[in-house]
Amino acid sequence: MKILVATEKPFAPVAIEGIRNVVDEAGHSLELLEKYTDRQQLLDAVADADALIIRSDKIDAEVLDAAKKLKIVVRAGAGYDNVDLDAATQRNVCVENTPGQNSNAVAELVFGMTVMAVRNMFDGTSGTELRGKRLGIHAFGQVGRNVARIAKGFEMDVYALDPFCPDDAIKQACVTPVHDICDLYRDNKFVSLHIPATAETRRSVGFDLITLLPKGGVLINTARKEVIDEEGLAKALRERPDIKYVADVRPDNASLLESEFPGRVFFTPKKMGAQTAEANINAGIAAARQIVDFLATGNAPFRVNR
Ligand code: 3PG
Repeated sequence: MKILVATEKPFAPVAIEGIRNVVDEAGHSLELLEKYTDRQQLLDAVADADALIIRSDKIDAEVLDAAKKLKIVVRAGAGYDNVDLDAATQRNVCVENTPGQNSNAVAELVFGMTVMAVRNMFDGTSGTELRGKRLGIHAFGQVGRNVARIAKGFEMDVYALDPFCPDDAIKQACVTPVHDICDLYRDNKFVSLHIPATAETRRSVGFDLITLLPKGGVLINTARKEVIDEEGLAKALRERPDIKYVADVRPDNASLLESEFPGRVFFTPKKMGAQTAEANINAGIAAARQIVDFLATGNAPFRVNR
């Protein structure tokens, strides 16, 4: 069967090698569509694919209709807001993700950007340290847990809010559970966002929460731009010149993009939290193995559509 890797943002070559080994060993054939610039290229490439490995690539009804033989899509990564799950279910296509496989890479970038923020974007002026400061983790999933682990190395005091995670699991990681979102933002100088983009979370972090941050607060977003109310963020940055926002997800808002707030906002040019060789190998090979297993047995342990 044909397994297509369709990644606008390509994996490291070493990850492709690993994916190829898994696919070859199982007797399937691998095709690559990397760095595509035009949606038509994706529509053409999926035409005879039985299985698809993607990253943040948008898989909607049009792509699924073009993929007449498609049985499974594996999002090599955590967030699957780029896949139309209902459209996949309607077409009998299984959708899986690869939870946890790229989370350390994203968590490390949280600290890369946080250090940059407290060192004043490396402008040469005197900054501050992270040791002894409070970090609030907004959602304690795989990335949040890795962020907590690394924060302990910086000797930070770590707090987490996650209504879907039992307090015991948070405490086991030597993190203090927080139950009120206002407390999370009010009491922690650093807040790191790890909520998925869903109907409930879209634009859920805005002016009211951000302006609760203590003096010199930094909001770190390696999650999704959709969870931010960007107008509210821009207003908060205007009214609170002490606050900073660093993100691995480029906003749409012009005030943020054109940097009305020099030295206080930072965005990576392209989402790169998971862009390490290790994360690519882990997520890419996991995706290939999940596909091989599904094609052989129908097992789909990380299925996200029903
Ligand atoms: C994820 O959801 O796994 C991360 O946001 C990484 O996305 P990417 O594979 O597009 O880099």
